Amino acid sequence: MKIAVVGTGYVGLVTGTCFAETGNTVTCVDIDAEKVRDLQNGKIPIYEPGLEAIFFRNEKQGRLHFTTDLKEGIEGAKVIFLALPTPPGEDGSADLQYILRVAEDLGHLLEEYAVIVDKSTVPVGTAELVTKKITANASVEFDVVSNPEFLREGVAVEDFMKPDRVVIGTTSERAKIVMQKLYDPLVRQGNPILFMDERSAELTKYAANAFLATKITFMNEIANLCEKLGADVDMVRKGIGTDSRIGKRFLFPGIGYGGSCFPKDVQALAKSSSDHDYDFKILRAVMDINLEQKTKLIPRIKDYFSGDLSGKVFAVWGLAFKPYTDDIREAPALYNIQQLLEAGATVRAYDPEAMDNVKKIHGNTLYFAIDEYDALKEADALIIATEWPVFRTPDFEKMGELMGNKVIFDGRNLFSITEMKEKGFVYYSIGREIVK
Ligand SMILES: NC(=O)c1ccc[n+]([C@@H]2O[C@H](COP(=O)([O-])OP(=O)(O)OC[C@H]3O[C@@H](n4cnc5c(N)ncnc54)[C@H](O)[C@@H]3O)[C@@H](O)[C@H]2O)c1
Repeated sequence: MKIAVVGTGYVGLVTGTCFAETGNTVTCVDIDAEKVRDLQNGKIPIYEPGLEAIFFRNEKQGRLHFTTDLKEGIEGAKVIFLALPTPPGEDGSADLQYILRVAEDLGHLLEEYAVIVDKSTVPVGTAELVTKKITANASVEFDVVSNPEFLREGVAVEDFMKPDRVVIGTTSERAKIVMQKLYDPLVRQGNPILFMDERSAELTKYAANAFLATKITFMNEIANLCEKLGADVDMVRKGIGTDSRIGKRFLFPGIGYGGSCFPKDVQALAKSSSDHDYDFKILRAVMDINLEQKTKLIPRIKDYFSGDLSGKVFAVWGLAFKPYTDDIREAPALYNIQQLLEAGATVRAYDPEAMDNVKKIHGNTLYFAIDEYDALKEADALIIATEWPVFRTPDFEKMGELMGNKVIFDGRNLFSITEMKEKGFVYYSIGREIVK
């Protein structure tokens, strides 16, 4: 099948590449000319494990193309995916300008029946808005389908190729047949394609992200309470996670969730609830708690240094909002770095993949280390912000020798309390005993 993907970011590029891998001919469209040029020259603009191999295979076999020209991109396409940004507007609602502008253009450009698929995370009612925009200019038949994406950055290719489920919102039988054919190769193990109406599909995505953000936040509150009560959150986590109704995943406390999805999606769902006279109280609490949690370690750090951070040197391990990605959108690390710099401290940062993206924002306000040990040189303390596996089993002896002060503020609970005691570190983590 010939398909087009409009918007070639994290979701669009993975979607396009994976559908090429299942034998479709795909053209990815983006307005960012530099990005398109890079992709045409075989330079992948994002870090995503497993993407490179299938990208090059499909490009070589002529199934994957890139263009800035929407007309050229959608020519002959039976399915047109919209994987466009939906950033938060000033009032917290999802900003639909990118989607609606492309919808308007599509109305002029469509020459034959096509299925237009909203893959972006969009509020309930967007499929109707997109339909209206296209209808205003269209002279051919088309259907608009909601097909929210559930991939996780860092394992996006695997998630896309083997989805837990595929959600497709459409009331059109014609579109349903096309979408079933496209997704069948990805659900051969028996995972379901769930067909539903457009509105339910749109809400499903927000409900999933809001639920996961709430689960993390609940655990962060339990961790905060553990600190007050002298309990160990790791024990409590295992104690509840073994209950199959709760499950073991998404129970790890830390310095809050970040990324391009949870923060904006929780905010957008809260806003669209209030627009419909529903006060979604849990979501308001989740947002407030998460904001505080991100910089939860800062007061402890200030306490430790008797309120004065000026001239102090902090090593920061991890800049990406989570491991295996270079995405730094809403990353807790950046909130902490900002506060450290404002307090007059110096930051020596290291991340395996995300440093180039941080350089674009923070330029030379911080030192970008060669590796995790280089970051530690003469540091008064280490702050761990992202749980990259490479940080999990470091050479503690070497760390002690490099650091000016053997103090760790661990926002991701990477090390055991026993080990920290044995190695002689001062160690602050989340929801566990402080090692002094
Ligand atoms: N990133 C994720 O993990 C993830 C997961 C599931 C869903 N989503 C949702 O998918 C959508 C896209 O997210 P993303 O992370 O891929 O965003 P992104 O910012 O990485 O990519 C969006 C791309 O769209 C391009 N673009 C903007 N306007 C355009 C236009 N008029 N024509 C063509 N291209 C245009 C941008 O240049 C950019 O390359 C969002 O709604 C997001 O909430 C994201």
